[in-house]
Amino acid sequence: MALRKLVAGNWKMNGDRAALAELDAIAAAAVDHGGVDVAVCPPFTLIAPAADRAPGLPIGAQDCHQNAKGAHTGCISAAMLKEAGARLTIVGHSERRADQHETDAEVRAKAEAAIGAGLTAIVCVGETEAQRDAGQALAIVEGQLDGSVPPAGTGDTLVIAYEPVWAIGTGRTPSVADVAEMHAAIRAKLAALLGEEGAKVRILYGGSVKPDNAVELLGVADVDGALVGGASLTAAQFVPIIAAAASLG
Ligand code: PGA
Repeated sequence: MALRKLVAGNWKMNGDRAALAELDAIAAAAVDHGGVDVAVCPPFTLIAPAADRAPGLPIGAQDCHQNAKGAHTGCISAAMLKEAGARLTIVGHSERRADQHETDAEVRAKAEAAIGAGLTAIVCVGETEAQRDAGQALAIVEGQLDGSVPPAGTGDTLVIAYEPVWAIGTGRTPSVADVAEMHAAIRAKLAALLGEEGAKVRILYGGSVKPDNAVELLGVADVDGALVGGASLTAAQFVPIIAAAASLG
């Protein structure tokens, strides 16, 4: 089943109010290419101004806390994100799994909190280079899915992003065959975890997606879109990726 593609930008800890000017052309491209979904996830402080500036463009966060409120200094709840204008949030990005020591169980709880607050959750998984070299890539990703996919996730509320850690920000990407093998394995695991709904959950590829490799990566079976870091920071780089997704239907 071909799912509607989603191209989501992850600005990470980049961008300021001046950078929101990039959203004008990104939002226009999203309208031009109405056959694909587009979203941008800026830093927390830019969510509200981004949503104001580009009301038609889904704006997301890059993390949320698993609890609704309480004594969690420096954290932010899913409902707060929703109130600020977010429609989705990334959870379990490998940078957070590494830097903030987030576990699969925490990632699942964050995804459940996001969905409970009315946000779509993009749950990230992916192996390190050492794990791939040891032949463990499939087992690692399947284990992350077992631990971090919310059982109530649906095609409307849940997205998976497969991001090999060694491909993030490096300019390196897996072979088409390796992407195909991994996305097929993720699809099978989603069916096992979610039943029929597992066929409707989009599986994004992420890690050094650029205008010049987007058609190749997005054309792989069961690649239902892309999670884009560096190349989402400017419309000049991000719009061609949106167009590539649209060209594949
Ligand atoms: P990149 O980042 O496109 O800069 O490799 C992707 C990501 O971490 O989501």
